[in-house]
Order: sequence, then structure tokens, then C-alpha cells
Amino acid sequence: MSTIKVAILGFGTVGEGIYRILKEKKNEIKSQTGFTIEISSIVVRDVTKKRIETPGVKITDSIHDVFENPDIGLIFEAIIGEDPAFTYLSKAISKGINVITANKAMFAKHGPALIKLAKSHHVKIGFEATTAGGVPIIRTLENLLKADQVRRIQGILNGTSNFILTKMRQDNVPFEVALEEAQSKGYAEADPSDDIGGKDAFRKLMILSDLAFGRQPKWDDIAVNGIDKIHASDVLTATEKGLRYRHIADISIDEDGTPSGSVGPVVIGSDHPLYGVDGVDNAIIVDTEYLGALTLIGPGAGMYPTASAMVSDFLHIVGKREKILIPS
Ligand code: NAP
Ligand code: HSE
Repeated sequence: MSTIKVAILGFGTVGEGIYRILKEKKNEIKSQTGFTIEISSIVVRDVTKKRIETPGVKITDSIHDVFENPDIGLIFEAIIGEDPAFTYLSKAISKGINVITANKAMFAKHGPALIKLAKSHHVKIGFEATTAGGVPIIRTLENLLKADQVRRIQGILNGTSNFILTKMRQDNVPFEVALEEAQSKGYAEADPSDDIGGKDAFRKLMILSDLAFGRQPKWDDIAVNGIDKIHASDVLTATEKGLRYRHIADISIDEDGTPSGSVGPVVIGSDHPLYGVDGVDNAIIVDTEYLGALTLIGPGAGMYPTASAMVSDFLHIVGKREKILIPS
């Protein structure tokens, strides 16, 4: 029986989720893929921080510990921001190591370059978790595109924003209180300003644009607004009229193949397909030439949904069969 050695970069909400699933589902992974998975090292910023026990795993603040080990076959990346993540993944790919990332800030900008690099080195790159958390939109689009053309994608792509809007409506709590709860549940980024300011949803939309249309629009051409100027009183007024605030990212392609779109809060009525999507859920409506409209809905953030998407990528890369794994 073969062993595959992996490293995890980042041990916050997502990195810890990956560790937990890989440990808890070790036997299932072995029977599905034929591989025994061994977590060799975990890279963090601060090795003195108190964390869950990880027996037999080296916790390090040096990426060299990963690259000096010639047996590492795959890296899970769940750190913050464009760099050093891009540098680390570029180096990993160049060394023939498969990579799986959740880092949308990095991937929205550098995804096309990493995919190209991965192709040239014959390694695999998984990025399902960059967009819509546990919702399998990336794999769905890849499958759809084999025989169809996407015309438009619209959706709720930020779990924190949808959670806050829902809390304000259902529990009548102030914005700040709802945001604090989103942070404590591990939905929001360490710095939540990109969640509530719309940039996080924008980046995910750019990743989807690359995949669906083969290109991104010019970033400056997209109007990006967040939910940060919406007060509980605005939500109440809308609710009294039978309307709901949703933060919607929208992109479509014109006849010349040019994508254009917008990101921002919209007030919608009960006839809108995103009216009933509450809490941390994300939803994506994909309009295609032949299929028509397909809607995917599910948890858009949080430890297990996100880590599950990454383990699903792992199974896709190394396994014979794929199955979403969520510990009971
Ligand atoms: P987090 O809880 O803040 O954890 C980040 C981890 O990365 C920490 O362990 C931190 O180390 C480590 N780290 C940060 N910069 C580093 C560096 N330069 N070198 C080494 N380690 C570094 O963040 P998270 O929520 O797990 O998110 C991780 C990534 O996944 C982000 O890119 C995020 O956008 C993305 N993501 C998150 C979610 C979610 O629901 N949370 C969903 C999808 C995607 P220390 O522990 O030492 O500080
Ligand atoms: N902060 C992000 C969100 C995490 O709330 O959607 C998932 O990408």
C-alpha cells in the first residue's frame, strides 16, 4: 500500500479543518484511493500559538522544512493573502508537487499563471474551496463547459455578508453584533473588511469568470460595493415591504466575448431565485446556452465546508472515487 506525504500551509479555521478530516477519514481515504495519507508538516506564522494536538507532525514557521523533504507529494494551502502564498505554490509546482488552495485573494490574481505552470509541470492544482466554500461550483462548471457555454453567472458569493443580512432581518440585531458572530464562527476573514466591503465576492467572481469565459474583465470596470453601509433599519424597512437585501455578484458575456458585471447589495422580492437563501449559505445561478439555468446552494464558509471541498479536490487528484467527507 502506498503512502502519500502532504503538508498543510496555515493552521487557522481552514487548515485545522483539513487536518481533522484527513485524520478522522484516514481509513476511508485509504480504501477509496489506495493511499495512506501522512501529514508531514504544518506551516504557520507563529509556532508559539496554542493549538490542537497534532502528534507526529512538525509545526514550523519555515517553508524550507516542506521543500527540503523530497517525499512531499501534495500541499494544502490555507494561508492569508497574495504572498507568500503565490511564491510558495509556484515553487511547489515547479518541484512537481500537487497543490490545493483555498486562498481566493491569491488565486483571483495568480490563478491563470499557476494553472499554466501546473500544466507545464504535469502536476494538478485544486481550487474548489476558493469560491463559495463547500458548494462544488468549480467542478460543476468544468463539467458543464465540456458541452455547453456559460452566458451568465450570478450569486451570493460571500457567506459573511449573507449571514449578517440574515441575522439583521431574522433577529433584528445591529450590524456589528452580526459581524462578531460571523467572526466567532470562522466565516469572516481575519480582517473582515473585504467580506463586508464586497472585495471577497468580487475575487470569487473573477475566478468564475476565468473559468467560465476564459478571461476576466478589467478589474476597474467592475463596480464593487459591500453591505457595510446597510443598517438594521434599512433591513427592517425592506422586510416590512416583503423585500430582502442580498449581496449579489453578477457577470455575463456579450456577443464579442467580453465579460462585464457588478458586485453589490440588491433588494429583491419573493419571485427572485435568491430570496430564500439565508445564513452562511451561498448560491450560484449559472445560465448556459443549452442547459438553461442551474442553481447550486450550500454553505459558503466555515471550517468543515471549506476543508471538505479541499479534501474533495485531494480525492479527485489522487483517488479513484470522489466523495465529500464531513466528519459526524
Ligand atoms: P485564519 O483562521 O486566519 O488562519 C490563517 C492561517 O494562516 C494561520 O494559521 C496563520 O498562522 C497562517 N498564516 C498566515 N500567513 C502566513 C504566512 N505568511 N506564512 C505561514 N502561515 C501563515 O484563516 P482561515 O479562515 O483558515 O483562511 C485561510 C485561507 O482560506 C484564506 O486565504 C481564506 O481567504 C481562505 N478561505 C477561508 C474560508 C473560511 O470559511 N474561513 C473559506 C474559504 C477560503 P498563525 O496561526 O501562526 O497565525
Ligand atoms: N470570508 C469568506 C466568506 C470565507 O465569508 O464567504 C469563504 O470564502
